[in-house]
This record gives sequence, C-alpha cells and structure tokens, in this order.
Amino acid sequence: MSDESESVGFCGVVIGIVFRLELGKLSNFRRLIVSERIRWVKEDPTRKNVFWPSEALKKQAWVADDSIYAEAKSDPEAFWAKQAEELHWFKHWDKVYEFTPENYKWFVGGKLNISYNSLDRHIEAGYGDRIAVIWEPEPVEEESVKLTYKELHDLVSRFANVLKELGVRKGDRVGIYLPMIPEAVIAMQACARIGAPHSVVFSAFSPDSLRDRMTDAGAKVLITADGYYRRGKPINLKKNADAGVVGTPVEKVVVVRRLGGDAPMNQGRDLWYHELMENASNDCLAEQMDSEDLAFLLHTSGTTGKPKGIMHTTGGYAVQSYVTAKWNFDLHEGDIYWCTADVGWITGHTYINYAPLMNGVTTVIYEGSPDTPDYGRMWAIIEKHKITQLYTAPTAIRMFLKWGDEWPEKYDLSSLRLLGTVGEPINVDAWMWYFDKIGGGCCPIIDTWWQTETGSNMVNSLPGIGPFIPTVAGRPFPGVIAGILDAGGSPVPAGEGGYLTIYNPLPPALTRGIYGDMERFKAEYYTEYGSERYFTSDGARKDAQGNIRITGRVDDVMNVAGHRLATAEVESALAQNENVSEAAVVSRPHEMKGEVPVAFVLLKAGIEHSEEVKKGLIKTVDSVIGPTARPDEIIFVDDVPKTRSGKIMRRVLKALVRNEPVGNLTTLRNPECVDSLKEKVGHKEQGGCS
Ligand code: WT7
Repeated sequence: MSDESESVGFCGVVIGIVFRLELGKLSNFRRLIVSERIRWVKEDPTRKNVFWPSEALKKQAWVADDSIYAEAKSDPEAFWAKQAEELHWFKHWDKVYEFTPENYKWFVGGKLNISYNSLDRHIEAGYGDRIAVIWEPEPVEEESVKLTYKELHDLVSRFANVLKELGVRKGDRVGIYLPMIPEAVIAMQACARIGAPHSVVFSAFSPDSLRDRMTDAGAKVLITADGYYRRGKPINLKKNADAGVVGTPVEKVVVVRRLGGDAPMNQGRDLWYHELMENASNDCLAEQMDSEDLAFLLHTSGTTGKPKGIMHTTGGYAVQSYVTAKWNFDLHEGDIYWCTADVGWITGHTYINYAPLMNGVTTVIYEGSPDTPDYGRMWAIIEKHKITQLYTAPTAIRMFLKWGDEWPEKYDLSSLRLLGTVGEPINVDAWMWYFDKIGGGCCPIIDTWWQTETGSNMVNSLPGIGPFIPTVAGRPFPGVIAGILDAGGSPVPAGEGGYLTIYNPLPPALTRGIYGDMERFKAEYYTEYGSERYFTSDGARKDAQGNIRITGRVDDVMNVAGHRLATAEVESALAQNENVSEAAVVSRPHEMKGEVPVAFVLLKAGIEHSEEVKKGLIKTVDSVIGPTARPDEIIFVDDVPKTRSGKIMRRVLKALVRNEPVGNLTTLRNPECVDSLKEKVGHKEQGGCS
C-alpha cells in the first residue's frame, strides 16, 4: 500500500459515519473527530482473513524486518545478550548461557534487580513523573488512582523496608493474597526489591488452596487485604486468609485496608499495611540479585492433584519479559496499556506488573468485573483512560460478543492501536469480532502462546511483521526455537498435528524447576523428548509458512475460562466430600469457557442420587479449590471404566461426553459399564468400535 494517508482517512470516516448513524446525537461530532484512527493493518488481497501490518505500523514497530528470525536463530545467545543490554545490570554477566541437563543458566555471573529495572532506571533517566499505574476501582463513584514512577518507587521502597522490619531477608518466600489493587503491584515489586521471592495466590482461590501454597513455599509473611469489590458487593478476603493460614508457617499477616472499616485482627499476627507504611523509610537500596537467583514462585496445575511451584529466576525472566512486551505490544512512550488478567496468574505477574513497568509505560489495573455497573464497563474504561493496547483472553472476548455490539458501540475506542489475546485457543468468530468491533478493523491482534512455566511469551506474530490470522498464534519469538514433533520425536510435516516442544538453548524466561520437586520437573518436562527439549504438553500444527496453531493440551490439564486446572485436582476435591466413594473428571468443550469439567461420581453405599448431594459436591469444590473449578455437570454413576490395574480410563469418559468414538475397550476390566454410561450421558456417536 503506497498511500497510507488514504487508508487512514478512509478508516476514520467509516467509523465516524457508523457512530453518527447509530447514535444520532450532537456529541457525535466530537466522536467523528476523535474516531479518526490509523489503520495499522491491511488485508491480504489474496487470502481471506489474513492481515498484515500497514506501512505506518511497520515504520513504528520495533522490528519490521523478517530477517530478525533468521538472525536470532543463527545465534540465539547473541540475540538474547543484545536484548539484555537494554536493562540495567549492577554487574555485567561473564557468560551468556550455560547448559547441563535440566540445569540451564542465563547471563551467568550477572547482577541485577527487577524492581530497579522497573522503577529506578526510569527515574534516573528523568521519567519519574510519567504515570506508572492507573488503578480503576470497581465502584464507578470512586476515583481512579494514578501513581507516577516516582510515587510508585516511594511506596515500593517503603513497603520493602516494612518487609525487612518483619524479618524478611533475601531468599525468604513471601505470600501474596491480594485482589486487583495497586498494593498487589507494590507488594510484588517490594519483594523483588529485597530479593524475597513472592508466591502469589489468586484471590478467588479457597483457603485450602492458600494453605497448600503457603506450606509448600514455606512463607512466614502473608500480604492480604480486608476485601475488595466484585459485582457491586464487598468480598471478605480477610476471612479466607484467616482460614488459609492456619497450620502454615505464616507468622505475620499484613492487611491492606481496601474496604475501610475494621476487619478482625489477630493480635500479634496481623498488622495493618497503612500503619506499617506510615513509619517506614522510603530509602531502600535494591538488592543486587544474581541472574540465577530465584525471582518468584507461582503454583500451577500439573496432571496430578498437587499444584507445582514453578520457579522463575531473575535475569532471564527480566530480559525476555521486557523484550516480548516491548515488541509484541509495540510499547512506546506515553502508551496506556491494559492487560485484564488477574495478578494471581503468570499473565498478571509478567504483563501487568514487571514487563510494562520495565518498559516505562502506564499499566492499567481494574479491580472488578466487566459487567459492573453494566456490560459497557470494559469499553468505558478504554474511553476514559484512552487505552492504547488491550490484552485479554478469548473467554472474555466470547462473553463480550454475546453481550452484544451495542455496548462497545457506545464508546470511543479509537485510542486503541493494538489488541492481544492469551490463555487458550481463540475461535474465528471471537477473533473477527474482536478485530472488527473493538479494533475497528484497524488494530493487529497479537495471539500470544505461552505458559506459567515459560514465564514470558514464546509464540506469536510480531506487530511489524505479521501475519495476523484468526486461530493462528504465529512463529516462535525470535531467539526461541520450537518444533512440532510426533510421539517418536520426529518433526511432523506442515499441516499435521504434533506436540509443541522448545529446543535448547532453552529460552531465558523458561522455568528452572519445580520448588522442592526437581524429580517431577525432570519427569514432566524433560523426559518425553530428552533434556534438550522442553515438552509443553500442548498440541500444535504449523502451516507452510511456519505459523503455528495451538490445538490445546494433550495431558489431563483443562483450560476453564482461561484458568488452568488439572482434572485430578477436581477429582481430589470431590473425593473430600463425605458422600463420595470415587470421582472421575474429564473436560468437555464449552461455547463460552473453552472447556469445562464434567464429573462422574460414585457415591458411597446407601447415599441417594439427589440434587441435595449434588449441591453438597459443588460446595466442596468451592471450598477446596474455588468456584472456577465447579463441574459443569455432575453425573452419578455406578461404575467408571477401568484398566485391569484399576486405573480410571478417562479417555473413554472424555469420548463419551464429547460424543466421540470410545475406541478400543479391550483393555478394560469392566467394558460392560460403558453401555450404561452411554445411556446416561446421551452419547450419540454411532461409528465407534466399542
Ligand atoms: C496453557 C498454559 C500464558 C499465560 C496464561 C495461561 C494455553 C496459552 C495460548 C494461546 C492457545 C494457549 C496452552 C498452555 N494457552 N496461551 N495463545 N493459544 N492456547 O497460562 O495457566 O500456565 O496455561 O494455556 O494450553 O499450555 P497457564
């Protein structure tokens, strides 16, 4: 496209007319002016639903030349070292990369601090007055809070001193159980500042989940809040925190007052955040962390009932987080970037907190629910703060789509330049809706594949390079080498499905282990394809141009509304109910949530299959894991298919709930149960070989 200005005007006018016709108010004259937006993408005339960066986007993007891929591939170590130079190091590294099986190190001998790179670096460069954080509370009548880099630095330093006064030293793990309030970022940054790895627990997780994680992490201090607002109601988080710390090593609980008023405080254990902060000094030197020092732990679901504490170290995580955010979201000075994840997930750690702050842009934090006070809240926030990049999950997009076009149409979204998605495969309809209705057909969609374990994004299209194709994530980020392999370890041809693996040199941000369980680490990631290939547990296929489409998990891990859950976790939660004799859980595709758990439950002798019992089961799941893990359906059964050694054949149950062929049943101990199960679930598949 030679004349960009033409397409710019065109796009703006079209949007203006749409607004004018639909709203027909005088104020739309203003909209007509502000709605002028640059068309950052252009359609591929030869292929349907394939988009490329416009000349304007290519000009602006940090990388626009495809040769970056070949260059990085020819020498990944040099590529990452070049990126690392952009951060501040107290001491330069001696060696870029070191590898021995299951033990890989980046920027060996280098010393840095992530909080220093997030805050001090910008202040020293003279950018201290830029806005670091915008916090949008859920109640609309409350004012948003804006913190400059200087103000955030001040708060972080003070809280770092508070932690020190509580006896927290470098290497000590600190629990964080906070809602979406600025203190979540302050607490994480304060931990990073003094080199105390945090272990953040999602605030909607149950006390039991908190207990398990605090115990596993050996945390002596927990930071929580009295509560938060969700769908207009105050939620009492302190109550859950109180229940969750019982029997853990936690000795001190710092409580942020979000709701106001008094929360019951446990004498000698609980301390108010605001009281501690009042007396704390704002002078706290950032700890010089070794590049391979533990930065934080984050528990995630594996295939067993026990979540694993994924370990991330400092240098590699910082470098890859920094550069992936910069390039993927095209971050520039003055950008107001909004990632809608929760701080309790890796997306929140990396792309709400550390990466945007390391890039010196404004990161937006929203406390509440997207449907409060109405379905327009997302778009109201974008209009209000003139958000430039929006990063959200396919589940959310599908929900917005269902709520209807009239909601985004009420608002001026023309500040948006780029859209991102993460967490699960996106369907074509959701992608196109996001592209048309939210991006106005003007913004690239960056579909980022990664995991808690990978710490940062690994597969995606770069905004200045493209292409942007619905359901296709893109190519491995420069410096990341990935392959799609068959079960025997050979690469599969283009167009065929296989297992996504990441090759040595294992990327800088990739996890260094499972806290306290390196055997499990080795078994889950480096056994399938050996120690030089990280096994992702995701299925994938590549097109002829090398663009990767993620097809979903190949293990017993589900993705429920973007939340990662093991079927085994739900099973063990159900098994804690007094009426349950045995439970088997499988996932079933769901129009909105991507996947949902379906539970097959055998009750103890004499217990009736009643709605009452079902309700009790839901309650148990809520209290053991949290409402995100609730089964979509509970099916009472007398038997489940088992192998001769007594293992439940979840493959058969999965086929049953998905109306797929149940396959070969000859290895079952009790094949006769399958017919009655078919009847129960209304299995319609005819062509199976059962
Ligand atoms: C699993 C990891 C990455 C942070 C949020 C989730 C799925 C993630 C995509 C994507 C298709 C995706 C994978 C992965 N996933 N991103 N862009 N397209 N699937 O982190 O909770 O550790 O879950 O999420 O199945 O293995 P997580």
